[in-house]
Amino acid sequence: MDDLRDKYIDLIGKAADEAALEDLRVQAVGKKGEISLQMRSLGKMSPEERQVMGPKLNALKDEINSALGAKKAALADAALNERLAAEWLDVTLPARGTRRGSIHPVSQVWEECTAIFADMGFAVAEGPQVETDWYNFDALNIPGHHPARAEMDTFYMHRATGDERPPHVLRTHTSPVQIRSMEAGGAPTRIICPGRVYRADYDQTHTPMFHQVEGLAIDKDISMANLKWVLEEFFSAYFGRSVKTRFRASHFPFTEPSAEVDIQCQWKDGSVTVGEGDDWLEVLGSGMVHPKVLQAGGIDPSEWQGFAFGMGIDRIAMLKYGIPDLRAFFDSDLRWLRHYGFASLDVPTLHGGLSR
Ligand code: PHE
Repeated sequence: MDDLRDKYIDLIGKAADEAALEDLRVQAVGKKGEISLQMRSLGKMSPEERQVMGPKLNALKDEINSALGAKKAALADAALNERLAAEWLDVTLPARGTRRGSIHPVSQVWEECTAIFADMGFAVAEGPQVETDWYNFDALNIPGHHPARAEMDTFYMHRATGDERPPHVLRTHTSPVQIRSMEAGGAPTRIICPGRVYRADYDQTHTPMFHQVEGLAIDKDISMANLKWVLEEFFSAYFGRSVKTRFRASHFPFTEPSAEVDIQCQWKDGSVTVGEGDDWLEVLGSGMVHPKVLQAGGIDPSEWQGFAFGMGIDRIAMLKYGIPDLRAFFDSDLRWLRHYGFASLDVPTLHGGLSR
């Protein structure tokens, strides 16, 4: 029996493939295999002999069977490894998903504003976010002692000790770009300036950085009526429906007369719908450009006049797309961005109805 065992263990160890192994199985433990035949001979033995030989033969059979099983698994592993090495490119695997980014609502609305005002003949101007004291305040008729400076919660840049020049500021509004574009292009002019602005303020509707779009139109016979038409035209295009506006007399140092503009809206169950109802929501400041501001920009106020406005981009984005909290705009939470973001091909155009 030991010879039988050694012979098969040896042969199994040497088997080159599954077919050879199957032949061995038949030879050893198949119906007419050597070990099976031995087991059949148990019947002719005396009970005493059988008691000794029976368990031995069974153990041998078990041992051969498990050797066959182990070898079979080893052969299969080797075959798989060989295939893996040869077929390293598995074309049956599912493709890797590509993560697509989305356009932030601020960028989308920025583009929407640009498209609408461009259609009315406004070019896009830009200015620096770190601004001199002069452009941000003085040129806009806000002198050093003026309360508007304190009200704006300005961020001041650092100045080296001993440097007595007034500090630069993070611009508190896009209005300094009025001056810069007057200087650069003179009159007549028609520009908007979308951009980032900064104020030290933080709650559900205020963040220290936010966005405005400035508008400036200068010509020989521009009036408040033109301002009103342009804004109403803008809101109808932007909200895709006619929107009533309300002009409230107000005060800005850089416009005279000045008006704050509200749009018609309705509050219902804590959410707001623009273009219906009898509530009003303030969305911008505006007015006729102050003669001193024209002068600061190098334009003769006896010859030219114009209107200007400054509108909160984030504010109108919240209104149009039903986004409740401004702070989430700048949290960079991917779930928020995927929910409120726009597909990169959803480019706002007037003929496309701006956006869906
Ligand atoms: N700059 C003003 C603000 O930030 C808005 C404004 C712009 C008002 C232009 C009048 C004219 O509040």
